[in-house]
Amino acid sequence: MTMNIEALLSPAEYQARRARGFVGEVCVVFDVLRATSVIVTGLANGAGGFVPAEEISEAVTLRAKYPGALPAGEREGLKITAAQSGGVEFDFGNSPREYTKSRVSEKIIISTTTNGTRALRACETADAVAVGSFLNLTATVMWLQSRGASRVVLVCAGTGESAALEDILCAGAFCDLLARSKQTCVVEDSAAAAWSVFREAGNDLLGAMRHAQNGRRLLENPELRDDVEFCLRRDVFEIVGLMGRDGMIRRV
Ligand code: MLT
Repeated sequence: MTMNIEALLSPAEYQARRARGFVGEVCVVFDVLRATSVIVTGLANGAGGFVPAEEISEAVTLRAKYPGALPAGEREGLKITAAQSGGVEFDFGNSPREYTKSRVSEKIIISTTTNGTRALRACETADAVAVGSFLNLTATVMWLQSRGASRVVLVCAGTGESAALEDILCAGAFCDLLARSKQTCVVEDSAAAAWSVFREAGNDLLGAMRHAQNGRRLLENPELRDDVEFCLRRDVFEIVGLMGRDGMIRRV
């Protein structure tokens, strides 16, 4: 089956599309630094599920619906403080290295981040929503093909209100893998643009991160610097994360 691939490269684009809805489409959401890399790592390490929340207050309120769930996330890249959450201590920040087997096994994690969880929620009307990252790129491409998806939207979460180079690179790598797998595709201009960015800069992803707003911010923070390399590794996990109709992301 021919697959039509489009990319939404910035928050303005996916927020506008949210209003129209994504019915009949499959979304793959990329927030490489770091929300979707965190979710994929957590699920691979045995987390029971992730519930994406758009606001800190929503994450706090959702704890009543999921007793025992652990609140997580960041603002300005840093773990949410009790002062920001009205007194609730968050269990995790947004570093994938925090989401170890011993800390996440069978836990439900309610996560709110600046862009990643907002992008995931923007897609909730889609037929299916997958969590994309370099860490599980091939597994996600294979899942998409086995599903026989005909209309695919690659959603780049961005940084603040701007496009993020790392998300566009990952969407481009996704197109590249699909093309190499001999998938028959109609690649729309937006996805073709991401693909050319990947062809240009994909050989040195870490170097490219020095030109990326969120990449630079993380590289300049000694405690978070290692997250960048962690998130740029390819195909470390053979899992796919899918957001269910109940809003929870689970491993398949
Ligand atoms: C986000 O959702 O905007 C990011 O994941 C930010 C970050 O972790 O630095």
